[in-house]
Amino acid sequence: MAAAEKTPVRGTGSVALDSALTWVDARFPLISTWKAHLAEYYAPKNFNFWYYFGSLAMLVLALQIVTGIFLTMNYKPDANLAFASVEYIMREVPGGWIIRYMHSTGASAFFICVYLHMFRSLLYGSHRKPRELLWIFGVLIYLCLMGEAFFGYLLPWGQMSYWGAQVIINLFSAIPFVGPDISLWIRGDYVISDATLNRFFALHVIAIPLILLGLVVAHLLALHEVGSNNPDGIEIKKHKDAKGVPLDGIPFHPYYTVKDIFGVVVFLIVFAIVVFFAPEMGGYFLEANNFIPANPLQTPPHIAPVWYFTPYYSILRSVPPLFNSQFPGVVAMGVSVMILFALPWLDRGAVKSIRYRGTYFKAALTAFVVVFLVLGYLGTEPTTVWGQFGSWLGNVDRATVVARVCSVIYFLFFILMPWYTKVDKTKPEPERVTH
Ligand code: HEM
Repeated sequence: MAAAEKTPVRGTGSVALDSALTWVDARFPLISTWKAHLAEYYAPKNFNFWYYFGSLAMLVLALQIVTGIFLTMNYKPDANLAFASVEYIMREVPGGWIIRYMHSTGASAFFICVYLHMFRSLLYGSHRKPRELLWIFGVLIYLCLMGEAFFGYLLPWGQMSYWGAQVIINLFSAIPFVGPDISLWIRGDYVISDATLNRFFALHVIAIPLILLGLVVAHLLALHEVGSNNPDGIEIKKHKDAKGVPLDGIPFHPYYTVKDIFGVVVFLIVFAIVVFFAPEMGGYFLEANNFIPANPLQTPPHIAPVWYFTPYYSILRSVPPLFNSQFPGVVAMGVSVMILFALPWLDRGAVKSIRYRGTYFKAALTAFVVVFLVLGYLGTEPTTVWGQFGSWLGNVDRATVVARVCSVIYFLFFILMPWYTKVDKTKPEPERVTH
């Protein structure tokens, strides 16, 4: 259709804006994109609290990119200058402290949003058919996020940056035959050095964020292809009116844009309180050891990753070494994350939402959440935190025994899922969404 023949866009209330939109729309799919993804994207009308975290994760992503750009203006990716440049940002650069605290708090906020967002999927079966690919994009995002956080943590070049990276990179050395070469390849040197810092900087500021952005676009395209799930776990596309609009759907804009703005306001209030009053969050968001410059000659007494990695770190530590090799622990840790990819195919429940699932699934999910939190806590502490069992048990740390039990339950949640979701006594799903 010729540009001039296009239907004029009406309804803005301004002739100038109307004709400007008509001009753009004749050359770029502006209005059709707006309609397809917002004004005429019909989302289930029964979204609840758990549906805030997708949009909040997008907000935090934007926040991290913007604050990251400003940090990069004064940060120096050089082993001799990095620590001092962060101190310079904190003390000398106007507004530098708030940008830095927003970025460091943003990292934890990102994981809080993403963990709650993933938990929502478990609650309502959002990972199930037809959303398998949407889930897989999600898990890839999660992996990228872990990489992004790990690379970023080395940049301040504090004691924990240095020794944390040392511990994690050394894990790769446990891989038989090729391990030491892989570690060397990651570090770019025989020890963590300026070369490592430079490549981690490149990965943190450009490579991973680009992949992350691409994956988030793919995630949203996949979501809009199949449509959103909802707390009842039923497909609203099954019941449509004569115009093809789902009877239980409401336009995303304005209904959910307004709902999400409310979520954003509440989130920003909490975020601001943390940034202003507790940016270190008792050592959970920023560890005390990271306020000391990296010293390759002095190992800190207790090395622990940041809280969002600690459940996996606990699984790693709980597996005993085999022939003095940590390889079994490394495999267990790797599998504990990778198993998430299989979730859509492990879950065989007759219904999706927890509202209609039976006791087995509810018990399994509760156990999973509890052990994930316990593993997370234990990973932040030394294994000696709860003392030892008596010598008749071989003087083993109590915390290690608990971590072992929790790790087994963690894996059983997934391994037994095809069985307990299938035999579970479910309730009948409603035909239409409930309120
Ligand atoms: C940067 C991180 C992420 C962003 C920005 C993001 C964004 C979104 C948004 C905006 C939605 C729609 C709104 C909502 O359902 O809350 C969504 C839905 C969804 N996301 Fe994510 N997401 C992220 C990470 C993840 C991860 C890590 C997973 C899982 C491993 C995941 C799995 C899903 C699923 C299954 C849905 C559909 C939920 C439903 O319809 O019930 N997402 N995501």
